[in-house]
Amino acid sequence: MNRPGGSGPMVECENLVKIYKTRDVEVLALQGLDLTVERGEFLAIIGNSGSGKSTFLNLLGGLDTPSAGRLAVDGHDLLAMDGDSRVLYKRRTVGFVWQNSARNLVPYLTAQQNVELPILLDGGRNRRERALELLERVGLSHRRRSRLQELSGGEQQRVAIAIALANCPGLLLADEPTGSVDRATAGRIFDLFRSLNQESGLTVLIVTHDRQIARRVGRVVAIRDGRTSSEFRMTRQAAEELARMGAAGLSSWDWPGSGEPSHEELVVLDRNGRLQLPRDYLDRLGLHGRSRMRADLEEGRIVLRPEGEGAVPADPDEGSTH
Ligand SMILES: Nc1ncnc2c1ncn2[C@@H]1O[C@H](COP(=O)(O)OP(=O)(O)O)[C@@H](O)[C@H]1O
Ligand SMILES: [Mg+2]
Repeated sequence: MNRPGGSGPMVECENLVKIYKTRDVEVLALQGLDLTVERGEFLAIIGNSGSGKSTFLNLLGGLDTPSAGRLAVDGHDLLAMDGDSRVLYKRRTVGFVWQNSARNLVPYLTAQQNVELPILLDGGRNRRERALELLERVGLSHRRRSRLQELSGGEQQRVAIAIALANCPGLLLADEPTGSVDRATAGRIFDLFRSLNQESGLTVLIVTHDRQIARRVGRVVAIRDGRTSSEFRMTRQAAEELARMGAAGLSSWDWPGSGEPSHEELVVLDRNGRLQLPRDYLDRLGLHGRSRMRADLEEGRIVLRPEGEGAVPADPDEGSTH
């Protein structure tokens, strides 16, 4: 379904910075974000409100330009792109689904016309057949003549996904796609993303607040204060249970889980050796507002201790250069 992809990762993002400048203030929305997404991956991004998730997605979607750092999608350098290449990039390389489905659809066009529009704009042929094929893919060919108002929230989101796929992008971006629908509908939308990923090899990146979704995605990246702070990887046991359900034709949405944690949390060490410790750990140890910790190398491990606690007196000369 997607265009033949190049080689290398789908998304390469290094030390990405985005500053919004308004008349009298500057907002540092992304402050050195690092992330690599492989081709064919299904990745979820989580994080508190205001942590920079939508900013990041908008940069990936070519809707806004990075301030500094490096960002490449499918080999396209998003900091060096001129206006014309940006238009083509938005049309062909990425598909975008917003939370607010009204933003995805032109209200006075039918579902089918909405899907035909991006194909028409890109000069694509057979747009009627192709639009119908896409509506079938999202399970909505019977609603092809309906307009925005006549579609339910979930149906609107599925049309939005068909629109996003119209020009065969390699990367599908979705910003809280299930934020405005009920649980059962969220499940159907999630299953659609999942099958597009598994059956068509589409790389899918979704921002979500939804724990039900995050539990079902292999790799979940947490953003905190405009940086990637930690990653959650699905345990092998959870992945096998989900794969068995898929093989049996069951929706992953019905996965009850075994009661065991579905993911393990990993902190991310950046190129400069910086890492963000899980906030939960800092809370539990009451480490607020402290600026210094001891880092000791002990039997191949790095052990962090609050300053002045359990101290192994350090020899200031050891390891230093004279
Ligand atoms: N267009 C903008 N102009 C100024 N500040 C913005 C703009 N968009 C987002 N911000 C600010 O950037 C930060 C990150 O926002 P956002 O990416 O929307 O976070 P999230 O999607 O994680 O809730 C917030 O402090 C937000 O207020
Ligand atoms: Mg947002």
